[in-house]
Amino acid sequence: MINTINIIDMNYLNLDKKKITATAQELNTLLADYHIYYQKLRNFHWNITGKNFFDLHEKFEEMYDDAKLKVDEIAERILTLRFQPVSNFSDYLKSANLSESPSEINDVEMVKTLLKDHGTLLEQMRKVIEKADAAGDEGTIDLIGGYIADIEKISWMLDAWTMSAKTKHPEA
Ligand SMILES: [Fe+2]
Repeated sequence: MINTINIIDMNYLNLDKKKITATAQELNTLLADYHIYYQKLRNFHWNITGKNFFDLHEKFEEMYDDAKLKVDEIAERILTLRFQPVSNFSDYLKSANLSESPSEINDVEMVKTLLKDHGTLLEQMRKVIEKADAAGDEGTIDLIGGYIADIEKISWMLDAWTMSAKTKHPEA
């Protein structure tokens, strides 16, 4: 008799299913946040006006290209953990921490909106890492840990853009 294997029940990741459920849930919230963030960057890329048009139009494109890759990686991480990624925009709008932004705002308001959103994204990423850590899920920690460093770096750059030459940080 042929030995049949139920592939769905195979725990090839050798992780506690109950513990990684919490990680997958937080990853789905992060996925929703990233979709709102991605579309916001496109919104700002299209609707930026004024003297900083060329700089920010290009920077926002660079940022949404990066966000697009991360959206895909987050969804595929959820699948790797053997859960379903949330896949419709109507569901993202319901579950995201982030909300949409108007298009009729100026360049400084756009940058400040993104900095605020970065704080929310970082908070959600840290929740993912906390759950992944409790499950011993190094793969998720490694992926999302890299995102944290990326968001922190671009936040420094956007923050520097809003500062004057006279403003200095305290010495470490
Ligand atoms: Fe474009």
